[in-house]
Amino acid sequence: MVRVIQISDTHLSRSKAHFAANWPPVCDWVRRRKPDLVIHTGDLTVDGADSEADMRDGAQFMRELRTPWLAVPGNHDVGEAGNPHQPIDAERLARWRRHIGDDRWSRDIEGWRLIGLDSMLFGAGDDEEARQLAWLDEVSSSANGRRLAWFTHRPLFIDDPAEGDMGYWSVKPAPRAKLLERIRRDDVAIVATGHLHKWRDYRLDGCRYIWGASSGFLVGPDNQPDLPGEKRLGGAIFEFTGTGVAIAHEDVSGLAEYWIDDVLHEVYPPRGAA
Ligand SMILES: [Fe+2]
Ligand SMILES: [Fe+2]
Repeated sequence: MVRVIQISDTHLSRSKAHFAANWPPVCDWVRRRKPDLVIHTGDLTVDGADSEADMRDGAQFMRELRTPWLAVPGNHDVGEAGNPHQPIDAERLARWRRHIGDDRWSRDIEGWRLIGLDSMLFGAGDDEEARQLAWLDEVSSSANGRRLAWFTHRPLFIDDPAEGDMGYWSVKPAPRAKLLERIRRDDVAIVATGHLHKWRDYRLDGCRYIWGASSGFLVGPDNQPDLPGEKRLGGAIFEFTGTGVAIAHEDVSGLAEYWIDDVLHEVYPPRGAA
């Protein structure tokens, strides 16, 4: 059995340390549960998209786990396709890669191939996105019978793969269609994401969609529409055995129930129109 822990949306920063008190309990929990690997599904930092210090410190926080780890970036780490203030670009990607590592990766464990994808590139329409899709096709077609599990930040959809544009909360319909086509073609078994700060485990058309909880903070109704899933903090444990897997959310003792709504103006102040 190989145990993998998914953590997500820690939003860590030394200069904006609003959620930093939740990091030591996460480290303690990870060390107690002794995973073979930790996967962070993004929004590691408060603002690695613009702050070198946040990204450098983010890597340092992850090393405190004292466990092998991998991460995929969130919108607050590298910006995102189409964002007028923080578009994902070469400089932001380079900062992630310099401090954290590749923004896409694959790892083989038991009868599985785990694939980390940079969802902030979905819909970018640039060479980076094209290279990532070509790479995805290559690691999927060479999996040799291994089952595929994707780990990425933004969920592909909320409720229905055919739904329209859900704005900030999920991948846009056009890039989503290309990914859903690959999920069907390559028989992807798991898509594990973060971003929503909610836990959810549901199956659709042979694929299991996991929304990994944040271990940083929750989002109240003023700042997030009514979505499915559970508002709870914690992490997810994946136990892979052969081609099987058991997946469960775990609450992490010692986490303070922070709500972004209480500190939004300090952590993510509104931007001007320009
Ligand atoms: Fe987040
Ligand atoms: Fe996010």
